[in-house]
Amino acid sequence: MSQLLEEHIAPIEVDGLTFRYGHQNVLENISIKVEKGSFLGLVGPNGSGKSTLIKLVLGLLKTDVGTIRLFGKDLVKFHEWDKIGFVSQKANSFNSGFPATVFEVVSMGLFGKIGLFRFFNKKHKEKVIEAIKSVGMEDYMYKNIGQLSGGQQQRVFIARALVSEPELLILDEPTVGVDTQSVQQFYSMLKKLNKVKEITLLLVTHDIGAMTDYVTDVACLNKTLHFHGHSDEFMADPDLSKMYGHDVHLITHNHGGH
Ligand SMILES: Nc1ncnc2c1ncn2[C@@H]1O[C@H](COP(=O)(O)OP(=O)(O)O)[C@@H](O)[C@H]1O
Ligand SMILES: [Mg+2]
Repeated sequence: MSQLLEEHIAPIEVDGLTFRYGHQNVLENISIKVEKGSFLGLVGPNGSGKSTLIKLVLGLLKTDVGTIRLFGKDLVKFHEWDKIGFVSQKANSFNSGFPATVFEVVSMGLFGKIGLFRFFNKKHKEKVIEAIKSVGMEDYMYKNIGQLSGGQQQRVFIARALVSEPELLILDEPTVGVDTQSVQQFYSMLKKLNKVKEITLLLVTHDIGAMTDYVTDVACLNKTLHFHGHSDEFMADPDLSKMYGHDVHLITHNHGGH
């Protein structure tokens, strides 16, 4: 395959996907594309099938109806899982006694477990520090993970996902339990990862909030896909903003430059 074509291959391409738990259709005829270099916000109310779609994309659930391609390969033939980082909504559940530092937790992204620390060399250490810096947590490197706020812990989990240098990062409701003030900073950090590190991002959320200001594309899910396009198209459609959030325009104009 030519270099040019390869550069334009979409990290995720879902076509005609239908999924049911038992007899209940949870997803119906979903076609969605996450373009290379884009930052897609996947929004929908609770129970709309967002996590189910992510599980299908990650191969954790299976369906016979429709196709999923990852980096141009059919899911069943796809093996390059190191290209994909995933941060789930339950990631930030460490209690205050958990005996690992930020540095150690991020290192797990390289080795799977802390016990393999003896193989650690200078290059590994540099990668871990770079990942921690990229989420703005360098001042907390040797703090215990359990002592951090929900938003800070979530940044650490993103660093852990980033340390193996994925091309695509999927985040399922990463801001649950993060206070409103920090959510803005969190999104702006993601935007920076997308722009500076050129990581393709898929952000799943039920709360549209100010997300539309940071993403390049929006997809609205509620069993079927109601919208899939650029974020400015989404914002220009009052029916969609009404259905999927509060007044998006109002929120958009309420916070200043970033
Ligand atoms: N393991 C399961 N078994 C049966 N139904 C499920 C299961 N997981 C989720 N569901 C149902 O599927 C629908 C979509 O759930 P989910 O994908 O978790 O939505 P979201 O992530 O958008 O909140 C909901 O109605 C939910 O109750
Ligand atoms: Mg969910």
